[in-house]
Amino acid sequence: MQRVLPLLTDPPENPATPNGYLDQLDSHPADHVNTGMVQSLWSSRVGASLFDHAATAARRVVGILQSPAERLHLEPGQTVLDLACGPGEVTASLARTVGRDGLAIGIDISESMLARAVDRHRAGNIAFLRADAQRLPLRDNSIDAATCIAGLQLIPDPAAALAEMIRVLRPGGHLAVLVPTVRSGALEKIGRNLPGIGGARSFADTEIPGIAEEFGLSGVATRRLGTIQWTYGYKSR
Ligand SMILES: C[S@@+](CC[C@H](N)C(=O)[O-])C[C@H]1O[C@@H](n2cnc3c(N)ncnc32)[C@H](O)[C@@H]1O
Repeated sequence: MQRVLPLLTDPPENPATPNGYLDQLDSHPADHVNTGMVQSLWSSRVGASLFDHAATAARRVVGILQSPAERLHLEPGQTVLDLACGPGEVTASLARTVGRDGLAIGIDISESMLARAVDRHRAGNIAFLRADAQRLPLRDNSIDAATCIAGLQLIPDPAAALAEMIRVLRPGGHLAVLVPTVRSGALEKIGRNLPGIGGARSFADTEIPGIAEEFGLSGVATRRLGTIQWTYGYKSR
């Protein structure tokens, strides 16, 4: 945790972590909160446990869900952000890639998810924070690479979360974001107004790449499998 403090916009004088993660939600409260059914499930202990088991099993068989370490161009010693990290499996795998001298920071809003993350993934190069994706407690240009896997669909203002990820990325740093999408065509026109189910929404094909470019991402590319889409790029210098 000591390694995270210099990266914070308002580092606490007494950084207590009684639950194993640093809670930054009090000092940076969320303006918009998702009160839908899906996020309520991920905020519960049962839901966090169910998700952890299901996601671990799914990652063994579905390649597109696996760690984006390669696409993030990670090197040993770098600092990487895993936004909406859930139970922290991807955070831990990114920590292995950046090695002992690197740092993987997992951020999530759910206490139940973070409780599982700290319970399962303790290491000197992993830190977990509780914060809202729309208001990251990190300094500008402080992170070498950032990812968000299956998180933006739950965030009330996904553009704000993407803008925050790009703000904290250093120039040249890579981003990889995975979201559920719908096929282009008629629904594409509806774009940002696609209805959500249980408080979780889908994105039109061009939506995330478009927002990312708007906030300064270059070399934007996408990869799609069924209803899942990755968007990749790097922050302009
Ligand atoms: C489907 S889970 C994905 C977890 C993880 N990325 C993975 O792939 O294993 C979505 C996560 O987004 C988190 N989340 C939802 N809204 C958030 C917000 N505003 N800020 C941070 N995390 C949020 C949820 O708590 C949940 O852990």
